[in-house]
Amino acid sequence: MTHGFNHVISESSKDEWLTPPHIIRALGQFDLDPCAPVNRPWEMASRHYTVDDDGLRQPWEGRVWCNPPYGAETFKWMNRCAEHGNAIGLIFARTETKGFHAEIWAKADAVFFFKGRLAFHHVDGTKAASANAPSCLIAYGQNNVAAIASSGLAGVLVKPIRATEDAASGCALSA
Ligand SMILES: C[S@@+](CC[C@H](N)C(=O)[O-])C[C@H]1O[C@@H](n2cnc3c(N)ncnc32)[C@H](O)[C@@H]1O
Repeated sequence: MTHGFNHVISESSKDEWLTPPHIIRALGQFDLDPCAPVNRPWEMASRHYTVDDDGLRQPWEGRVWCNPPYGAETFKWMNRCAEHGNAIGLIFARTETKGFHAEIWAKADAVFFFKGRLAFHHVDGTKAASANAPSCLIAYGQNNVAAIASSGLAGVLVKPIRATEDAASGCALSA
């Protein structure tokens, strides 16, 4: 990929919604953010991959912070987090969707539901208006469950008790 062109596309896209920095700080030091902005007002982790690297195609090492691109892409990143086994994700709490069931309810060690709506940040560091959906943290690895539990962030931490996988609920899953 050419850096300049993709840089312009990515920075003008709807995907550039940065995590409020106090949330990352409350969760402790991360080794890698595999989906970081090219230009960032603060560091999310010790190392970063950007759209120019395509973080999904790179090796992941250490403790990962993952507030991924939105939409259909989100659950590819959560799938990678689950495989990696040492990560905290930040996604919208669309708990009824196919992707949430496949990658979160079926695989995560815990889910943390924030009290209230988050206000994300722009790449210049300024704060945007409150998000139009609730958000949650996804813990893969018991170290990350513990980090959320001791973070002081306001919300509720839920540990899934998995029902029989093939049990039919009679309810349709959202796309
Ligand atoms: C919702 S933002 C979150 C940014 C940052 N991870 C954070 O927590 O503040 C998603 C980021 O993913 C980046 N991105 C999109 N596609 C990517 C890819 N294939 N590889 C790496 N980063 C990507 C976008 O440029 C954007 O900065």
